Amino acid sequence: MNNAIHKWNEKYADDTLVFGSTPNGFLVEESKRLPKACDILCVGDGEGRNGVWLAEQGFDILSVDGAENGVKKAIKQARLRKVSERFKGLCVDLLQWDWPENCYDALVCLHLYFMPEDRPRMHRAMLESLKTKGLIILEVFHPDNVGRGCGGPPLRELCYSADDLESDFKNADILFLKETEREIAPSSFHNGGFGKVTRMVAQK
Ligand SMILES: C[S@@+](CC[C@H](N)C(=O)[O-])C[C@H]1O[C@@H](n2cnc3c(N)ncnc32)[C@H](O)[C@@H]1O
Repeated sequence: MNNAIHKWNEKYADDTLVFGSTPNGFLVEESKRLPKACDILCVGDGEGRNGVWLAEQGFDILSVDGAENGVKKAIKQARLRKVSERFKGLCVDLLQWDWPENCYDALVCLHLYFMPEDRPRMHRAMLESLKTKGLIILEVFHPDNVGRGCGGPPLRELCYSADDLESDFKNADILFLKETEREIAPSSFHNGGFGKVTRMVAQK
């Protein structure tokens, strides 16, 4: 298990949902672009707050995360919320995964961070996992978020700017790309506040 995954697995160890069960606001806004009842790959889905919400909206979800405790909690949430038939959980390190190709109608990637040497390869794999015209909805913290105390990676190089994403997704049609401030909900690790994020919607 890599170090980042190990830390998340420990954070997910008890019964509390670390990020709660409310889905990410950018995902909720952008979900209107998704075709009805399509297949969606949710990467770094943690305890499933986003994947389970999407299953409730009628989508078929593969929720992938490296932290076993997170995947177990996501599967349990899907069962409690009665969407198990549309929600599969898979525990895998995405850096080692044999990524599917041309399989999904959409991919959701919310606050999943890779080191600069891995990031372009991971973003390429995400794009390749999509069918033609498939959509990626992605939000991450911007490097300027570091030091604000509202959560997110502590290192600038782990956060992504719009330029980083423009370069990684140069082979996709970028439909939306913005660096912006938004309120960060309090979690088990911080009291919330205003964070700076980078948001993107791209199409294969
Ligand atoms: C900040 S959390 C975000 C969780 C979820 N997307 C959400 O918004 O609630 C980052 C997640 O990425 C997962 N992760 C980090 N590196 C990973 C990797 N190499 N393979 C699979 N999952 C990874 C962690 O286990 C963690 O659940």
